[in-house]
Amino acid sequence: MNIPYHVAIIMDGNGRWAKKKRKPRIFGHKEGMNRVRDIVSTAKTKGVKILSLFAFSSENWSRPKEEVNFLFSLLEEFIKKEVKELAKNNIGLQFIGDLDQLPVKYNNLIKEAENTTKNCDGMLLNIAISYGGKQEIINAVKAIGKDLLAGKISIDNINEETFRNYLYTKNMPEPDLLIRTSGEMRISNFMLWQLAYTEIYVTDTLWPDFNQDEFVKAIEDFSKRERRFGKISEQLKDTS
Ligand code: FPP
Repeated sequence: MNIPYHVAIIMDGNGRWAKKKRKPRIFGHKEGMNRVRDIVSTAKTKGVKILSLFAFSSENWSRPKEEVNFLFSLLEEFIKKEVKELAKNNIGLQFIGDLDQLPVKYNNLIKEAENTTKNCDGMLLNIAISYGGKQEIINAVKAIGKDLLAGKISIDNINEETFRNYLYTKNMPEPDLLIRTSGEMRISNFMLWQLAYTEIYVTDTLWPDFNQDEFVKAIEDFSKRERRFGKISEQLKDTS
């Protein structure tokens, strides 16, 4: 089976899952965190090398304060409980996003967790927090502008390869597969640059129900796809 090197997931549907069970939204997030654990372990077993999870968008800051606080308490719980286990399983942890927006306490927690797992190279768990794709591109443009003014680069140096070095994801290849749960057909400001040629898989399953079998199904679906990157089938056969 052709295993995707980098899988990105938009974990959606926690609120609807809770509503269906007549529970508060936070109940869905709590169960959603359990799926994070399961999917990280399945991804590693299947041979995925990078798993990117969209956990909190820059737009999510405008949710009710109690929900935002709860999500951050889950993040804290996740880091405190899981970091040792991740390190034991040789899984590196990295966070991307506008992390300066986070209270200092979480920023320190994140740095510590990244540091604990910095030598783990079995898989990278890349968690996007306070992340917005448009904002990421604007940050990159600003940083390029600064480097131009400082004479570190010239306009002729700006191309797709150099631009990607200014993104949060500079240390990783672009996702091969994007999974979105809960049936919504949009990418919601996630990895706008990086998803240009990513295969998209949308399932109606809500994130708290997205179990290991569902993940394997998505991988199997991906492995049947022909990725043409704008070429035609025959050209791909010529080069293989
Ligand atoms: C989207 O569902 C989900 C989120 C905004 C939060 C995702 C968080 C987790 C899965 C748990 C914590 C994860 C980590 C990595 C610690 P939604 O609330 O938008 O659902 P809805 O569209 O049904 O309302």
